[in-house]
Formats: sequence, structure tokens, C-alpha cells
Amino acid sequence: MKKDIAYLYDKKQQQQPITVLTCYDYPTACLQDEAGIDIVFVGDSVGTNILGYKSETEVTMADMLHHLRAVRRGVTDAYLLVDMPYAADRDVEQAVTNAKLFLSDGADGVKLEGGIEKVPIVKALAEQGIETCVHIGHNPQIHGSKAATHGKTFTKAKRLIEAAAALADAGAKLIVLEKITEEISQIITETVDIPTIGIGAGRYCDGQVLVINDVLGMARPFKHARRYQDYDHLTFEAILQYINDVENGEFPRDENVAHIASDKLARVQKWLKSER
Ligand code: KIV
Repeated sequence: MKKDIAYLYDKKQQQQPITVLTCYDYPTACLQDEAGIDIVFVGDSVGTNILGYKSETEVTMADMLHHLRAVRRGVTDAYLLVDMPYAADRDVEQAVTNAKLFLSDGADGVKLEGGIEKVPIVKALAEQGIETCVHIGHNPQIHGSKAATHGKTFTKAKRLIEAAAALADAGAKLIVLEKITEEISQIITETVDIPTIGIGAGRYCDGQVLVINDVLGMARPFKHARRYQDYDHLTFEAILQYINDVENGEFPRDENVAHIASDKLARVQKWLKSER
């Protein structure tokens, strides 16, 4: 069953946690979809996690479209969300044009980073019937990769709560809360009608999102994340084993090779002899 916004709102109503993972490639998309994830999210974290960029600000529309198309081929049921890269929503016109490119390449919704200043863009997208997910708190495109916790003082907490309400009123359909104190995330979750998806924002959001590389153990560990596999170690071991097997003649074996029938081989050898 294809998961749409109504399905995600229903989960919020029923207090069933919404599950979200970032995804950058086809095979991982197939596995996430088959496992039943609610939202497959092509984040601009593709830049630092997959493309070797130093910062999210280097990610382009072309990068995002390339990875979106790969992921889309693997997704059947999950809601497919894609990140607007740095400066691609610089103004309303550009945001609408780029969001339409994402939708025509199979995205169900588009995520934007930023606070209350994004209200006009969210409004314009909503008027075009484009589903948006906003993203407040720590914004890697704006604050860089060093994430400080947001919502620790009265003024900052108030600003976050007001931003969430204004963005929801403007027509945002989902909201990511990144690196926000648990108490303020809970207040936002209870005061907006739209589902909140937390990352480093505590236990009381409507859903959780993690970067797939952190889940698989492909990156340095973060406090907000949990490693479910030690990819780095397992992959390094596999590479060492491969090198060793090739060097020692252990790979390939007969089971890995194809043969020509002996009568045909005899013909080839006879022909070769006649050519010499
Ligand atoms: O791009 C990304 O991975 C994100 C998550 C941190 C939500 O925006």
C-alpha cells in the first residue's frame, strides 16, 4: 500500500511512531521499502555521507535529482521525501521550479531547511499543491555540521515554537526537529497538527529520522544515533579477505567460472595450431 500524507497524519493521530531513514541509492531503497519504513528520505546529507563533500552547501540540484531517481526506482510503498539543496529555494520562483523538478522525478514531498523566514516559500508551494516538510532547529545548510542543541533558553525555545506554528499555518505538511531539547520538541509536537519527525530531538516526536550511514556504522558515532551494524569493520574485513583470496589463488574458484564444451575447445585449439 502506497503511504501518503493522510497515512502519516493517521499515524500521528493514533500515536504510532513514524519511521524515517535517509537513503541515497537503489539497493538500500529496495531494502528500506521492503522492511516497511514509512518515509524514505533522500537527504542532502548525501553530500557529506556519499559524495565526499566537505559541507551540505556543495550539494547541487543535479546531485539531488541523480540520487532521487536511483532511490525512486527502489521505492514502492514508502512516502518519498527529498531535500531541497542549499540555495535552491533562494526565492519563491526558484523554490517552485525546483520542487516541480523533484515531483516530476517521483518525489512525494520536498523538505526545506530554515525557520520562520521560509513561510512565504512554504505558502507558495502549498498553493501549487506541493507537499512540504520544513526543518527547524539545527540546519546543516545554515549552521554547518557542528550541531549545538537548540531550545535551551526561553527566547530560543519561544522562537522555535513560533516558527513551527507559523510554518504549519503556512501549509507545511511535516516538520523535522533537529537537535532540539526534548521538552521543546514535545511542546511543538503537542501544539502543531502536522507530524513532527525528530533527530536528536528526544522521545516525544511523532516520528524519528536517522541518517542510514549512522545506523549501519559507516560514520563516526553520534550521541543522538544508534549503530545497528558495524559496516566499517565488516566492509574492511571483507576487502582484506578479498585481497588475500586473490593473492593466494583462492578466488575465483571453479564455481565462479564459465567453461566451453571440450569438443568446441578442441576445435579452437586445432584452429590455433593451423594458424601458427
Ligand atoms: O539531509 C539529512 O540527512 C537531513 C536529516 C538530518 C534530517 O536533513
